[in-house]
Amino acid sequence: MQLTDLILNNSEQVTRQSGLQSPENDKKVYIETFGCQMNYSDTEIVLGVLSKFGYNETSSLEGSDVILLNTCSIRENAERKIYKRLDDLKFIKRKNPNVVIGILGCMAERLRKDLLEERKCVDLIVGPDEYRRVPELIDNVLETGEKGIAVKLSRVETYDDIAPLRREGVTAWLSIMRGCDKFCTFCVVPFTRGRERSRSLNGILDEAKRLSDEGVKDIWLLGQNVNSYKFEEHDFPDLLRTVASALPEVRIRYTTSHPYDLSQKLLETMAEYDNICKYIHLPIQSGSDRILQLMNRLYTVEQYMKVMKTARELMPDVGFSTDIISCFPGETEDDHKMTLDVISEVQYDGAFTFLYSPRENTKAYSMSFDIPDEIKKRRLDEIITLQREISYDINRKMVGKTKRVLVESLSKKSDDFYMGRTDCNKSVILPAQFINDEGNQDTNLRAPAIGDMIDVLITKANSATLFGNPVHFHLPISNSLLNG
Ligand code: 5AD
Ligand code: SF4
Repeated sequence: MQLTDLILNNSEQVTRQSGLQSPENDKKVYIETFGCQMNYSDTEIVLGVLSKFGYNETSSLEGSDVILLNTCSIRENAERKIYKRLDDLKFIKRKNPNVVIGILGCMAERLRKDLLEERKCVDLIVGPDEYRRVPELIDNVLETGEKGIAVKLSRVETYDDIAPLRREGVTAWLSIMRGCDKFCTFCVVPFTRGRERSRSLNGILDEAKRLSDEGVKDIWLLGQNVNSYKFEEHDFPDLLRTVASALPEVRIRYTTSHPYDLSQKLLETMAEYDNICKYIHLPIQSGSDRILQLMNRLYTVEQYMKVMKTARELMPDVGFSTDIISCFPGETEDDHKMTLDVISEVQYDGAFTFLYSPRENTKAYSMSFDIPDEIKKRRLDEIITLQREISYDINRKMVGKTKRVLVESLSKKSDDFYMGRTDCNKSVILPAQFINDEGNQDTNLRAPAIGDMIDVLITKANSATLFGNPVHFHLPISNSLLNG
């Protein structure tokens, strides 16, 4: 029996919400999200919970009954931004004292006391594992005027039975696990999001199928460390295989991976399925073994490189991106050079680079922190400049090649262009019509549309984006491609 059959026959029942609307409640909720994809996915869960109680989402602050900020604590900068936003909200509360203002997410967990005592405009504080209680807490504020706080972390909450309320689109986040047990010494996540726990495989598969039925063409399986997904006897490669084989027309991706848990089995599974994107975001954090050890990252540079080598042997076109923290406490010039060397050696398609930000309660917080600001700035600049050159070099070599692109949205700059993504997660800008050999609109083919999979000839590149012309559709013939 195939793994998929086994899972489909599993009798576990998953109750789904159906966007129930209570006629008595016509309250409008406005929600702003900060931080990582997990937070965006959580916002959809909160909206799913609220919709069951009749709340409707509004995109306008003015006239909203409830304002929620879903917050991030990963670096000091992120928290500063949210404090600034709270200053704006103070004025809204002054104008309309009945509006309920709530802080959700990691900052709620970390700074509950400060937020409740110092920020008078805040009525509600709800941590990442207590989102089911948001409607009840809002009601309580409205009825009694008392502030509400719910910040208990759970060992079991996965919101497996909550149907997230998503905005329309052809890509979707699907959360498969929560929390993190890795305790990297710089990171606040294990404290704000709690212990690792995984959703049921059937719950995830159900949701993925529902997304596909609704027209989603690209699903990101999400978790702080998806590689440690474990439900009953199923690990992450089992899950990936199950979803990919059940939905062969849908692109499946995942993020984020921890190098320590990335198995050969996962790489082999990726290589086996055409619809699993050949793209791995694999945070290295530093190129120095000494710093990696201080960070408690559990791997050496050599071990990390071995994973990359195997990935490239199995998937020659695989794309890589990474996260790098510059200026971790005690980082020397030699450590920094080792990071630059690793970046050059790996040739990442892209990198997210951060200056180390001390976070209370983490182990690194008490490590001495003595790198002068001008050195920090220079090291970060060197990393960014090097990576930009590499990204440009990689992208430039794509000019003249044809890449398969999923059209995701209109381009930000012009309605005459679309933005799509390659399998390796590169953004591609393409015109909203087919061009014939004479450079005019090709009237034999209908115009491209969001959700189309199109082969695109890359004609231009910069370090962040590719540009190209549609060559032909990559779709089942049944999807009438001819004009009219
Ligand atoms: N300072 C700077 N960057 C951090 N990250 C996590 N914690 C910190 C911190 N204290 C970065 C890591 C992680 C990414 C999500 O954020 O690179 O992979
Ligand atoms: Fe933070 Fe490390 Fe867990 Fe990632 S793996 S969330 S960096 S503790």
